[in-house]
Amino acid sequence: MENKFTKNICCIGAGYVGGPTMSVIAYNCPEFIVNVVDINKQRINAWNSNDFSKLPIFEPGLEKIVKKCRDRNLFFSLKVEECISEADIIFISVNTPTKTKGIGAGFASDLKWIESSARQIAKFAKGHTIVVEKSTLPVKTAETIKLILNSSKQNNKINEDTHKKNFSIVSNPEFLAEGTAIEDLQNPDRVLIGGEDDYSIDVVSDIYKNWVDPDKIITTNLWSSELSKLVANAFLAQRISSINSISALCEITGANINEVAKAIGSDSRIGSKFLKAGPGFGGSCFKKDILNLVYLCRYYGLKEVGDYWEQVVDINQWQQRRISSLVIKNLFGTLSNKKLAVFGFSFKANTNDTRESPSINISKDLLQEGAKLSFYDPKVKEKQIVIEFDKSVEEIFINDTALKAAEGADAIIVLTEWEEFNYLDWKKIFDVMRKPAWVFDARVYLDKENLKNIGFKVWSLGT
Ligand code: UDX
Ligand code: UDX
Repeated sequence: MENKFTKNICCIGAGYVGGPTMSVIAYNCPEFIVNVVDINKQRINAWNSNDFSKLPIFEPGLEKIVKKCRDRNLFFSLKVEECISEADIIFISVNTPTKTKGIGAGFASDLKWIESSARQIAKFAKGHTIVVEKSTLPVKTAETIKLILNSSKQNNKINEDTHKKNFSIVSNPEFLAEGTAIEDLQNPDRVLIGGEDDYSIDVVSDIYKNWVDPDKIITTNLWSSELSKLVANAFLAQRISSINSISALCEITGANINEVAKAIGSDSRIGSKFLKAGPGFGGSCFKKDILNLVYLCRYYGLKEVGDYWEQVVDINQWQQRRISSLVIKNLFGTLSNKKLAVFGFSFKANTNDTRESPSINISKDLLQEGAKLSFYDPKVKEKQIVIEFDKSVEEIFINDTALKAAEGADAIIVLTEWEEFNYLDWKKIFDVMRKPAWVFDARVYLDKENLKNIGFKVWSLGT
């Protein structure tokens, strides 16, 4: 069956990046076989579920693509070793969390999964294999991977196969944003491919040329590609911290943050994107990648540069504390015996991902002050919320509707910009709350005047 395929691609890691990226490659390249492998059985089972609404990741458009390609040229399995041995091209898409202990703890990325993947590749790959770094990595990680791959000849018993074994490393960072992953993959602003030899760069470029305009494919050396990914995320996050810092100034001076964002964003040199003020950036990448950049700068003796970028993360934390303090202050300085409804737990709309979500820190601050929290999120499951808090069922309630979450609450705190929040029956919600009923709109998303007319007391960030 495999003979009809012209290329064999394997991806290690069936997560938020590996799953959607490989699905889109399989969709656009029916002549390639794409095997996505993972060590997590539950995740693989979910990818293989007959009920497509049970895929482990929620992304608009993903279900349709998986439906079309799965078991055609897209396969999800636990067969890591077998799929590595059959592959011409191997993408590494495993997670690279911030280290929690040892040298660089709190800043540097933990590369243990990258290392173990490289060791598996070194052992099981056959012939010439192109290894593609898809995970976001510190600059110079390719050097480590290369070392591991090339030492395979010393580790393995020398036989004819071992001699034929050789590797090229390519960096091909992912720029997809969650919630728009499929759209971003189908119509990318650019595809970045860094490598050391033209042949491997061309092979990886050819995959994307099946659906991406060749002018959008940027090729660089390995290190520029690795660094560009960190810098792109740092610049995006910096814009969010910049606008959030100004949101506080707007509240004091009577300016309106959305008006300021529009005014400055219309300058084509600044541009309008990533100027939405809110409760700070979340997600698995921004904080991790900036801290990684800071670590790198300090490691190479560039203290001032590291300090500069660290401020982006500091302002983000400050914004979250600022919001929780404001809620407490407006509720007469105490939250004991008060019920607060939290609307939104994912780190942004259209995803069920809660990693580094601003809702987590803000909720923790409020719980610390004695509040009872009542959550509603249209996509995040109950256990995913509960796991974040070491609290009893008397302090945390998870609801399946916004109305239930608001019952008896003193305040609603809007932390994710789910579209449906705009269409709720706010009059009905007002009626079931304890008065004075507050709405704290940390996403500057709701119609403030409408809420005021209903009778709510409203605080809207940056206004
Ligand atoms: C990605 C990127 O790869 C990471 O560098 C980026 O900074 C964040 O996003 P993501 O796909 O979001 O990671 O992570 P996750 O959803 O946790 O998926 C990683 C998968 O790799 C998991 O399913 C995990 O089980 C799997 N894995 C991990 C392996 O299959 N083998 C391993 O050795 C380690
Ligand atoms: C980000 C990058 O956009 C993507 O290119 C990279 O590959 C991975 O990291 P992601 O984290 O999925 O993607 O989402 P993104 O849309 O960038 O949002 C990140 C956080 O910033 C969210 O919490 C979001 O709410 C917040 N944000 C974004 C703002 O507060 N204001 C904005 O204007 C934009």
